[in-house]
Amino acid sequence: MEEKNFVKLLSPRVTTLIVSKNSEGKINAAPYSFVYPFSFEPALIGVGVGKHKMTFKNIKETKEFTVNIVSEDFAQQAVNCEEKIEFYKRIEKNQLHLEDSEKVSVPRIKESKAVLECKLNEVLELKEADHCIVVGRVVSVKAAEKDGVLDIDEMNYLMHETGGTFRRVGGKVLLSRKK
Ligand SMILES: Cc1cc2nc3c(=O)[nH]c(=O)nc-3n(C[C@H](O)[C@H](O)[C@H](O)COP(=O)(O)O)c2cc1C
Repeated sequence: MEEKNFVKLLSPRVTTLIVSKNSEGKINAAPYSFVYPFSFEPALIGVGVGKHKMTFKNIKETKEFTVNIVSEDFAQQAVNCEEKIEFYKRIEKNQLHLEDSEKVSVPRIKESKAVLECKLNEVLELKEADHCIVVGRVVSVKAAEKDGVLDIDEMNYLMHETGGTFRRVGGKVLLSRKK
């Protein structure tokens, strides 16, 4: 197997729509699935973002973004947001809606049942790589809960494999851990 297939071996990953804002206040949304938890304390995530992406430019400019997890009910609309049109037209064109975030000035996607609001912590440039890592500090989260517990089933995540292939989350498996 060719090594370029390595990404598929590290899948499926959560599909997200990252919302960002440029210095003129124009709002962008684009799908991203290189999204990884990095640290509990402080709460940090890393997003692998292509160095020429508008999302990268916007986050460097205004230092905030929201990571809106995509569920099956609006997955095609979310994936359509990768289209290379004037970026601030994507949300309206795909009948998605924005709502105010709790702690950042960048809005979140109303349709998303789980959202991480982030402030830019740092950018890891990864000199020879085509992507860099945008490290975000999570300052607020929105999530579906059932009886006070996070409910992954309710959130109905659609996970990204590669290209246009996605997968549903499977059943829960509980193992004991030797902590
Ligand atoms: C499901 C999905 C996941 C994607 N994940 C990433 C990713 O993690 N990193 C990336 O740089 N591009 C990713 N892309 C491609 C970007 O969405 C695409 O290049 C988009 O046009 C970028 O928009 P922007 O320039 O406004 O940020 C993904 C596309 C899809 C459909």
